[in-house]
Amino acid sequence: MQQEGDLSKNPKHIAIIMDGNGRWAKKRFLPRFMGHIAGVKAVNRVVKYCDTQQIKVLTLFAFSSENWRRPKDEVAKLMDLFVGTLDKELNRLDKKNVRLRFIGERAAFSEKMQQQMATSELRTEKNTGLTLVIAANYGGHRDITLAMQEIAQQVKAGDLQPEEINEDLIAAQLSIPDLSEPDLFIRTGGEKRVSNFLLWQMAYTEFYFTDKFWPDFNAEAMQDAVHDFSTRQRRFGRTSEQVENPSETN
Ligand code: FPP
Repeated sequence: MQQEGDLSKNPKHIAIIMDGNGRWAKKRFLPRFMGHIAGVKAVNRVVKYCDTQQIKVLTLFAFSSENWRRPKDEVAKLMDLFVGTLDKELNRLDKKNVRLRFIGERAAFSEKMQQQMATSELRTEKNTGLTLVIAANYGGHRDITLAMQEIAQQVKAGDLQPEEINEDLIAAQLSIPDLSEPDLFIRTGGEKRVSNFLLWQMAYTEFYFTDKFWPDFNAEAMQDAVHDFSTRQRRFGRTSEQVENPSETN
């Protein structure tokens, strides 16, 4: 069992689908949007947890490429919330040595939001603490499709032979190619789906599902997920004997 204070078994990269904001609000007879506001507080708690536990990367699914299908009013309010939150939190995150990055297609967002994304990435570029990746207008299929288009262009230009295409080359064209792949994926809100999140990058990720709604998520809930992760044996296709006695087995 993981000793308290032993951070060595902690996942290096945690990816989260923050689900259940709407249901959290509904349960309290509040408008759905209040759930998203409470969701921001949960984001702050989880960032703090990752910072203290020396987690290297936290990737949050803030807005999927499918979320545009939500009622117009909810989408507009979510955009305002993103802009407002970034405005409010950037100084604090920067002081905490957090590096901010965004993945997903930005062109669909307002000029102001695109500008904010670029500014906050630039401002925190040299920070060496937690890397906080915000997935916004992100979709795993689209990520892979764009990578394929880029590779096809290279083949067409004669810079690459089809037989030279391998996993490393594909991974290098995807979002966040320089970051390690998620070790732990958490989804709150009771659904057990991956919902077009980091499809390629999560091939060997450990999955953890909880019924807790995202606004109720806190350091204790994160610790439960991280502890659960620490009990898993990651085999990456090998047998448990190979993992347990690497020197004795081929
Ligand atoms: C899913 O819950 C949540 C979202 C689509 C939005 C997530 C956004 C936040 C937590 C706000 C802040 C984030 C950042 C990074 C500033 P849902 O609305 O689908 O909940 P439901 O399934 O209960 O309806």
